[in-house]
Amino acid sequence: MSERFHFTLRTTDGRARTGTIHTPRGEIRTPAFMPVGTAATVKAMLPESVRATGADILLGNTYHLMLRPGAERIARLGGLHRFMNWDRPILTDSGGFQVMSLAALRKLTEDGVTFSSHIDGSKHTLSPETSMEIQRLLGSDIVMCFDECPALPATEEAVAQSMRLSMRWAQRSRDAFGDRPGHALFGIMQGGVTPELREESAEALKSIGFDGYAIGGLAVGEGQEAMFGVLDYAPGFLPVDKPRYLMGVGKPDDIVGAVQRGVDMMDCVLPSRSGRTGQAWTRRGQVNIKNARHADDPRPLDEHCTCPACTGYSRAYLHHVFRAGEMISGMLLTWHNLHYFQELMEGLRGAIAEGRLDDHVADFHAARAQGDI
Ligand code: GUN
Ligand code: ZN
Repeated sequence: MSERFHFTLRTTDGRARTGTIHTPRGEIRTPAFMPVGTAATVKAMLPESVRATGADILLGNTYHLMLRPGAERIARLGGLHRFMNWDRPILTDSGGFQVMSLAALRKLTEDGVTFSSHIDGSKHTLSPETSMEIQRLLGSDIVMCFDECPALPATEEAVAQSMRLSMRWAQRSRDAFGDRPGHALFGIMQGGVTPELREESAEALKSIGFDGYAIGGLAVGEGQEAMFGVLDYAPGFLPVDKPRYLMGVGKPDDIVGAVQRGVDMMDCVLPSRSGRTGQAWTRRGQVNIKNARHADDPRPLDEHCTCPACTGYSRAYLHHVFRAGEMISGMLLTWHNLHYFQELMEGLRGAIAEGRLDDHVADFHAARAQGDI
């Protein structure tokens, strides 16, 4: 691996930033949206199609892959990139967050977490050390620290205790990760909606030292206003010369607001998951393709969109294949949604680079206010 992982900041516009993350597997243009490929696939999409939508990087999950098909097996088969036929960068989440939302019989200690698989009930443990080892076996390019994300609402004391545990785990993650040229380790800030706790968390992470810094513990039901409230100050606690990653966000208007507040990377299942439930996202808001009003509509989902769903098919067809339960329904809507999310990021990057983000965001909101055609 020739090139070391590094970030170059190109331009800022207000608090918003655009730049490039350089990795041996390719460049990531920021602000970046990362499609989620939980189980070694972005559901309903071939990897080359995901790339065609404009994605520079995918997200994978330690939790799912350790349970099925197993990290050692993926390593024997040449690593996650070879396994899933995606040769560009992959970021893997560390598992703790998914254990808390998916696994049964969870037991949390200072050492880590033991849990039962949601697939077959088998017992497993994850700790900072085992999470680093699994992410190494997968061949992840951007490895996330093992952390705990407290379920909100929680008392400030509980959020503080949880954050301090995550900071001890961040040090253990750093120690276990070691020095792996070409691979990056990101810390994860916690601290709920309390500025003092967010700052304490950021200071702890900065003194350990990471290649990038995530903002965790948001988009867990606190609402957009509370999330933007945290994003009004939390990115300012982080180093300017390292990428900032907002985990698990979000809807298009969440993404735009996060980028305005200085976030460089995001991931969310929304475009792929909602594509499989008949929900499309366009410049003019959300479209429910199940709705009977589309049954005779010869127009495309979005006449300005250049994706295969919009250039080749009518709303009437998309409505029909969804109603008929045909697989092409999830394929076309997922493609469209991922294309729209990537186009949104491209528009934001261009606007930041040219110093016209405020006007661009005003246009974004104006188009949505018009509503669907
Ligand atoms: N995904 C969304 N939020 C979080 C978080 O706080 N921690 C981790 N590890 N993953 C997340
Ligand atoms: Zn489209």
